[in-house]
Amino acid sequence: MCSPVKLTALALIFAQLLGAIHCGEYDNIDNWVISYKSKNFPENAVLGGFDPAGYRNYVGRTLYSASVVPARIRAETGYVTFNTESVANTATFYEVLVSNATLSYHWVHSFDGFREDNAVCVGTSSTDERVYICRAKTDGGLLIGTLYPDIRTCIIRYENLPLRKFEKYEVLVRKNKSVKWIPFDNQIN
Ligand SMILES: *[C@@H]1O[C@H](CO)[C@@H](O)[C@H](O)[C@H]1NC(C)=O
Ligand SMILES: *[C@@H]1O[C@H](CO)[C@@H](O)[C@H](O)[C@H]1NC(C)=O
Repeated sequence: MCSPVKLTALALIFAQLLGAIHCGEYDNIDNWVISYKSKNFPENAVLGGFDPAGYRNYVGRTLYSASVVPARIRAETGYVTFNTESVANTATFYEVLVSNATLSYHWVHSFDGFREDNAVCVGTSSTDERVYICRAKTDGGLLIGTLYPDIRTCIIRYENLPLRKFEKYEVLVRKNKSVKWIPFDNQIN
């Protein structure tokens, strides 16, 4: 388990060299673009839902207390919120999930922390568990939440609203359209 206390950059590098810390690490299978308020919002950002104020929310991720968690991004204002299994907060440093010609993203119905094929992982938690992206209809919105498979629920806490837990929810999965190149030339002698 990682200490939620902020480590100095040097201590973190040392710890990673020693292989002592795996928690709070970003997953690199998908394409995530670093963003902040004044930066142009990336094209191909993945839409996640809408918040109680009616703004569209794009899929993001951020690091909080040695845990990588999904984030809800309002493109228009750069207002970014997220929640852990207990805390709701806002982020100023975050990354935006983007699709490309071969990788696209879809929401599928799921339940009980079931490990869906090709579910998008944001990274690891402070207890070194993989963290996934879920969403559910609640509080007048369709809100992106945090899925810890071991807790078996999609946890959503938006601003100062009560913490919500869903056993049935949707989970974000990737579709990979790239086809392996078949070198049929080799078959001709
Ligand atoms: C889409 O992103 C993946 C992962 O980074 C990459 O392997 C693939 O080549 C990209 N596809 C295109 C068309 O750029
Ligand atoms: C997509 O499929 C290609 C070809 O099978 C594979 O090389 C690549 O790693 C896959 N990318 C992802 C992000 O799954």
